[in-house]
Amino acid sequence: MQAIDALLKRRSARELTEPAPDEGALELILSSAVRAPDHGRLRPWRFVVVRGGARERLGELFAAHAQRAQPQLGAQALQRERLRALRAPLIVVVAAHCNPAVKIPLIEQTLSAGAAAHAMMLAAFALGFNAMWKTGGPAYDETVKQALGFASTDAIVGFLYLGTETAPAAAPARGEWRDLVRYWGEQA
Ligand SMILES: Cc1cc2nc3c(=O)[nH]c(=O)nc-3n(C[C@H](O)[C@H](O)[C@H](O)COP(=O)(O)O)c2cc1C
Repeated sequence: MQAIDALLKRRSARELTEPAPDEGALELILSSAVRAPDHGRLRPWRFVVVRGGARERLGELFAAHAQRAQPQLGAQALQRERLRALRAPLIVVVAAHCNPAVKIPLIEQTLSAGAAAHAMMLAAFALGFNAMWKTGGPAYDETVKQALGFASTDAIVGFLYLGTETAPAAAPARGEWRDLVRYWGEQA
């Protein structure tokens, strides 16, 4: 797939299944991630791969988070949280490893991790797989972060769910890009 086609056609998957990106594809996806723009060459990205039975342990973290956030939740709702981690055969947790001691603003370090996540989605799409980018409460929860091995100064920018689409869907409408653009300072 041409790069421009991946950029113009990428959309999130609705439902993912096996096969997951294999080792070679995952290597390409992660290699694409570390091409993200990086002010100060900080390499402020961290990636935690969750697959196989580890997804069930991630589901337990999601359920425990939901229970802490909403203690009134019933067993069914908690089970739904557990199942979120099983909605794809491969998950990569993408985080910004923020360094407050450098002059590069934290927002720029976090944006770089967001750019890495987008690059991963594009790479997966170009390789014939697809992805979903999710955050939700667990991304901002200290206990979840700690359990995944992140520092409290790290920021999870997304849980990237990766796999093969069960039924490719049409890209959601984005509206007219011209409505979002102004040309400043040009002569009338
Ligand atoms: C930082 C970030 C966090 C997101 N978190 C969620 C989420 O938790 N749940 C969700 O349904 N969509 C989330 N999305 C949006 C989807 O990933 C997706 O981009 C959106 O539904 C538009 O669909 P498309 O990618 O097919 O255009 C998030 C997007 C970003 C950039």
